[in-house]
Amino acid sequence: MKILVTGGAGFIGSAVVRYAVADGHSVVNVDALTYAACLDNVAAVADEPAYAFECADIRDRAALDRIFAAHDPDAVLHLAAETHVDRSIDGPGTFVETNVAGTFHLLEAARAYWEARGRSDAFRFHHVSTDEVFGSLGALGRFTEATPYDPRSPYSASKAASDHLVRAWGATYGLPVVVSNCSNNYGPYHFPEKLIPVVILNALAGRPIPVYGAGSNVRDWLYVEDHAEALLTVLKRGAPGRSYAIGGGAERSNIDLVRTICAILDDRRPRSDGTHADLITFVPDRPGHDARYAIDATRIRDELGWRPSVTLEQGLARTVDWYLEHEDWWRALLGRDGVGRRLGTGG
Ligand SMILES: NC(=O)c1ccc[n+]([C@@H]2O[C@H](COP(=O)([O-])OP(=O)(O)OC[C@H]3O[C@@H](n4cnc5c(N)ncnc54)[C@H](O)[C@@H]3O)[C@@H](O)[C@H]2O)c1
Repeated sequence: MKILVTGGAGFIGSAVVRYAVADGHSVVNVDALTYAACLDNVAAVADEPAYAFECADIRDRAALDRIFAAHDPDAVLHLAAETHVDRSIDGPGTFVETNVAGTFHLLEAARAYWEARGRSDAFRFHHVSTDEVFGSLGALGRFTEATPYDPRSPYSASKAASDHLVRAWGATYGLPVVVSNCSNNYGPYHFPEKLIPVVILNALAGRPIPVYGAGSNVRDWLYVEDHAEALLTVLKRGAPGRSYAIGGGAERSNIDLVRTICAILDDRRPRSDGTHADLITFVPDRPGHDARYAIDATRIRDELGWRPSVTLEQGLARTVDWYLEHEDWWRALLGRDGVGRRLGTGG
């Protein structure tokens, strides 16, 4: 299959690109190379004949038309987005432009291409979304594909809007679409503004490890390479018009997660004057911080046979080891705009 992947120079997109090429597919990576992108993430496949890169913005319809015509893809796997909730609080406009308008332009380009080539049922437009569109859970229950939308941040609202556009293009124009909503990812190549790399890198530097509020917010964590496998599974075998909730079945409060990472670092790089957990510092909470996310992944497990391959503890150990071994990668990103600063305080 030839897959047009958008956002393939980002965290999850690059895992998808690497996985898809290893799985025998051809990939066209379409990415605008924003602050969150890093082409080193796909260096392992950059010289493969099955890989092509197109630097383009998904808001640029003319560029998209050219790319569809030039590469003739069998499927679109759409990951390009603005993704950092804290940045969406400070500057929601870019989130609406990329996540909503960009998805609209990509849908229209895909539809024109699909119609011009005879409306094949085998074509797929797979939109990659988040469980954050469902809002915030109390202590009980889990999100399923039937959970009503209730986004509460500019980021999740923009992703919810894009999910609705994708479903509407399926219902109205017959475009064969699938949507997946995934829980929080972690793993190698995670940009150093997100919680887990912030914890690892601050701990290594002996700096305070910031934890929002009381650290009681609960997330359901999935190793990024397991997500990449799930996305290819949905792309190959998911039913058009259907959506799939994807999660790791690994719920942890932020403070428990941070303590687990600190314990791994105590083992790998002991501090001379205490434990890494001594560096934990509680900071004012994010405005509107969702209390709990959790995914019921029964559908993708029962219908498509997918399940995560690693536990959270295994995945975190791999992740910490990866950051210890790839200092050149993360050091080069620390100077990027906004990295290392507290964003999204709403003030
Ligand atoms: N990170 C998570 O935990 C998580 C969980 C569920 C779903 N998702 C979704 O998965 C997708 C990828 O997330 P991520 O964490 O890898 O994001 P990321 O921020 O690491 O990467 C996003 C990529 O999209 C590119 N991009 C941004 N705007 C673009 C534009 N206008 N045109 C073309 N390319 C553009 C960036 O250059 C970057 O390479 C997003 O759609 C996100 O909503 C993420």
